[in-house]
Amino acid sequence: MSIHSADIKKVTTHKLSEMKLRGERISMLTAYDFSMAKILDQAGIDVILVGDSASNVMAGYETTLPITLNEMIYHASSVVRGVKRALVICDLPFGTYQGNSKEALNSAIRIMKETGAGAVKLEGGSEIKESVERILSAGIPVMGHLGLMPQSIHKFGTYVVRAKEEIEANKLLSDAKLLEELGCFGIVLEKIPATLAGQVSKELKIPIIGIGAGREVDGQVLVLHDMLGFSQEFSPRFLRRYHNLFAEMTNAVQKYISDVKSRDFPSEKEQY
Ligand code: KIV
Repeated sequence: MSIHSADIKKVTTHKLSEMKLRGERISMLTAYDFSMAKILDQAGIDVILVGDSASNVMAGYETTLPITLNEMIYHASSVVRGVKRALVICDLPFGTYQGNSKEALNSAIRIMKETGAGAVKLEGGSEIKESVERILSAGIPVMGHLGLMPQSIHKFGTYVVRAKEEIEANKLLSDAKLLEELGCFGIVLEKIPATLAGQVSKELKIPIIGIGAGREVDGQVLVLHDMLGFSQEFSPRFLRRYHNLFAEMTNAVQKYISDVKSRDFPSEKEQY
């Protein structure tokens, strides 16, 4: 018996909160294109994040700042076409929501209309309160992002662990509570102490998804290219590599080059 698209139950923000209530961990990975998204979805991932990390891993920029709204829309619409079950969340890129709630709403509306994604993600707490409120008022689900916020890299200068000091930890906790009160359906916590992340997860009802935030949160997210080992340089403590695609692909490409040079490829069977 084959499973038809109509039989597939889509993951919704509501389903994620039920998973938290049941104590079922939420799995989330990034994807930026149709083919990868299709593999992740068929493998059973709960959430696919079209992260602005596309700026690094797809476009080769050093930071997430240069990627544009149009580029994010291109990536997110490609991902959505490959997905039948997972919830697709798209990052609002730098400069499209900070300090101007009307622009924030327009950016979020463009993402929802032009990509078919199910939600947007924004970095920040009290500083972006008005933008979050305005997007939510249009019925667009919003995920928050606190801790290490790569769009603010020039404010901090490094990618070290955040909220180790009490003042920053208290601000993070109150920002998380604010995002929940405003109506966000979940929050990503990036690179903060595990005990603080566990406390946020305990004190909030909405799902908390960690990246470098320890075991006591409601789900985990990794950048797909990092966990598959596409690159060798990026090696933070929190990253578990599930594959070494850099080596596998290099071997495959070298074998192809050698087969072409030696005239082994194509063989008689591989021609018309
Ligand atoms: O852009 C991204 O990939 C992210 C994850 C690191 C959570 O925001």
